[in-house]
Amino acid sequence: MFVSSKLASKMIKPISGFSRLSKKEKIDWLAETYLKNSPEDVAVLRQYWNEDSSLQQLHDEFTENTLSNFYLPFGLAPNFLINGDLLAIPMAIEESSVIAAASKAAKFWGSRGGFKAEVIDTKKIGQVHFNFFGNKKKLESFFESVKPKLLEAAKPITRNMEKRGGGVLAINLKDKTAEIPNYYQLHCEFETKDSMGANFINSCLEKFAEVFRDQAKNYTDFSSEEKDIEIIMSILSNYVPECLVRAEVSCPIEKLDENKDINAEDFAKKFIQAINIAEVEPYRAVTHNKGIMNGIDAVVLATGNDFRAVESGVHAYASRNGKYSSLTHASLENGIFKFWIEVPLALGTVGGLTSLHPLVKLALDILQKPSAKELMKVVAVAGLAQNFAAINSLTTTGIQQGHMKMHLMNILNQHGATEDEKKILTKHFTKHTVTHSSAVEELKKLRNS
Ligand code: MEV
Repeated sequence: MFVSSKLASKMIKPISGFSRLSKKEKIDWLAETYLKNSPEDVAVLRQYWNEDSSLQQLHDEFTENTLSNFYLPFGLAPNFLINGDLLAIPMAIEESSVIAAASKAAKFWGSRGGFKAEVIDTKKIGQVHFNFFGNKKKLESFFESVKPKLLEAAKPITRNMEKRGGGVLAINLKDKTAEIPNYYQLHCEFETKDSMGANFINSCLEKFAEVFRDQAKNYTDFSSEEKDIEIIMSILSNYVPECLVRAEVSCPIEKLDENKDINAEDFAKKFIQAINIAEVEPYRAVTHNKGIMNGIDAVVLATGNDFRAVESGVHAYASRNGKYSSLTHASLENGIFKFWIEVPLALGTVGGLTSLHPLVKLALDILQKPSAKELMKVVAVAGLAQNFAAINSLTTTGIQQGHMKMHLMNILNQHGATEDEKKILTKHFTKHTVTHSSAVEELKKLRNS
């Protein structure tokens, strides 16, 4: 067994039944085993408990082996004019500058017609992966004959979704034997309306798999080997290229006149080249898209959605043409500057955490109880705004100026600055460049003065 040298002397033994211990027992075990019984470490865990015990219990039960809560700032980026509605966007994010940048971009585009957003499609995908050992033509005939039975068997699961206008859109048989011998799929399409739909899709798929396998056993045209369909797994796909939203801003080029150090035309040209670079250069594209995800993830998290699903789907989409590329694009035609994003976003505004987590409920209230489609638009806009702010800074002042100003507070907090010290130093750094060492030095100077 691998044992790091730091732990070698302690002879730590695996624990069994950890999940059945009480929260206190878990913390005691942790403190004793890994934290030298430090009362300070235990106090940190307890410090983040909510004093409302039922609220704490709610959070404890979201997941397993909960010891404490892990805070992220919950902030607001106001002034987002989206399809004519003025919205304030809640964001959960720890990175300084992100909310400030979003707010700045919102204000900029608010006075230039705002953001336009449209949902292109909302189709989601799930697959039953299986092995079939035999004649492909016979499998195809079996599939056609069994398809209505699959849909019928899933009725108890799909009935409510159908009432809401969703359900199973299609089940297709896919031959993947060129890639792996005997490997086929039931490639299924779903509409899940306002829910993200993971549970719905997975339940349907597991039912399809069960009925598909069982029906094969009684299919008289199959040989005994063919009757033995082997289900490998049934699971939704987080790649949702047809659950797609587009957001856009545009204005006459002369309206891009805010920066006094660069004229509107030069700004537009530089901005568009920065986007073109991210379109062709993967090293840049990854960072470019990371900036977009700063905005997207923050809203996805605040609204209780699964940011890992969104992340993996978005990055797969960014590589759909065989090379990782920018999610945003820009053009200048007939004097009109246009900047847009197209992203796949499988989001929900019902189910999951949406009615459980009080801050998620609040975030959705702030957004005026959006449908999943409306939320897709807001999230895409947040990504586009974030990218606009980043490219704007990168191609003009550079990113560090604004970023370090925002980061100043983190540095001062790290060094235990008082409120008065923060006030004085924030003022000082409106006129001076922030670096980690200059911030620490000025704090020292202030304390010695
Ligand atoms: C930092 O979190 C995000 C940026 O690097 C994005 C970008 O470079 O476009 C500023």
